[in-house]
Amino acid sequence: MKQILMTGVGAYLPETILTNDDLSKFVDTDDNWIRQRTGIISRRKANPEELTSDLAVKAANQALLSSGLNVLDIDCIIVATTTPDCTFPATATIVQEKLGALNAFAFDVQAVCAGFVYALSVANGLMSAGQGSNTLVIGAETFTKLLDWRDRSTCVLFGDGAGAVVLQAEKSEEGYGIIANTLHSDGRYKDILYVDGGVSSTGTIGHVKMQGRDVFKHAVEKLAAAMDEVLHISNLTSDDIDWLVPHQANIRIINAMQKKLNLPDEKVIKTVSHHANTSAASIPLALTSGVESGKIKSGHLLALEAIGGGLSWGASLVRYGRPV
Ligand code: COA
Repeated sequence: MKQILMTGVGAYLPETILTNDDLSKFVDTDDNWIRQRTGIISRRKANPEELTSDLAVKAANQALLSSGLNVLDIDCIIVATTTPDCTFPATATIVQEKLGALNAFAFDVQAVCAGFVYALSVANGLMSAGQGSNTLVIGAETFTKLLDWRDRSTCVLFGDGAGAVVLQAEKSEEGYGIIANTLHSDGRYKDILYVDGGVSSTGTIGHVKMQGRDVFKHAVEKLAAAMDEVLHISNLTSDDIDWLVPHQANIRIINAMQKKLNLPDEKVIKTVSHHANTSAASIPLALTSGVESGKIKSGHLLALEAIGGGLSWGASLVRYGRPV
């Protein structure tokens, strides 16, 4: 039986940094409010000519280097994004062309901030069924292009970036690679976090709209339940987790999850302070930061969880790297 191993990670952040003080120059907010309520200090912003696929390609190249694979070895590319380059084709096919990954099939997954856990689960299913031996799963967003910069309740929360992982289907020791996934959606809550535009509705791109308090409440409750579920189906407990790598939306949501799982600070990757909420890119960005800083090592059990518009949410357990 083949395991779906996670053998490489990569990330890219656009160069332009927007601090809370920068924002307070054009919207009625201040550094103290943003830090206290969200933990965010700064975020990155893509330039107008910088596309989601450009960020994705940079993250993917780094993930390829980290895994040791050649781009022609890649046979599947999945891009999780809510901010595609264009309505069609899929951003994943644009990434394929820019990378020169000519042996891959490529498509996008749209589950907003839960996009990366959705894409990981889709990749796991395909690869377990024999479709794709070496898959690139990328979360990439230019989310700032969806923001109404006059709306202080949303514009301070988001940033741009991309992260990528390489998955390889290999005969390996049991308990390595992707161990469990759970995915959930509840469309009854579609109106608490959405974009007021679209191809078949307004014909415009629209802007992010959110009822922050409601989203916060659902996030804590639903992420905790999803994490319990993956631990239960894997016969593991929170004591087995080496690193919680959560979606980076708000430090208070992350801290609440940390508390529910009874994990010390030393076991949680927190990047929200300088990334803000990068939607589908947030988990692979945090993952890469954990690996590059030497915290996450081969053999560590990672707990990933995310929630976003839909509402859609999910969690995954992954034992990183390869057995030695
Ligand atoms: N700067 C200053 N004041 C702000 C502000 C800002 N950027 N945004 C909102 N406020 C004000 C509000 O207008 C309100 O003022 P009022 O009491 O005079 O009406 C006050 O701050 C409290 O607003 P509220 O929305 O109740 O704050 P909150 O404590 O719920 O924090 C969020 C707001 C958005 C930070 C918080 O609800 C949150 O993080 N929710 C989850 C969002 C999220 O993670 N979304 C993505 C999921 S993928």
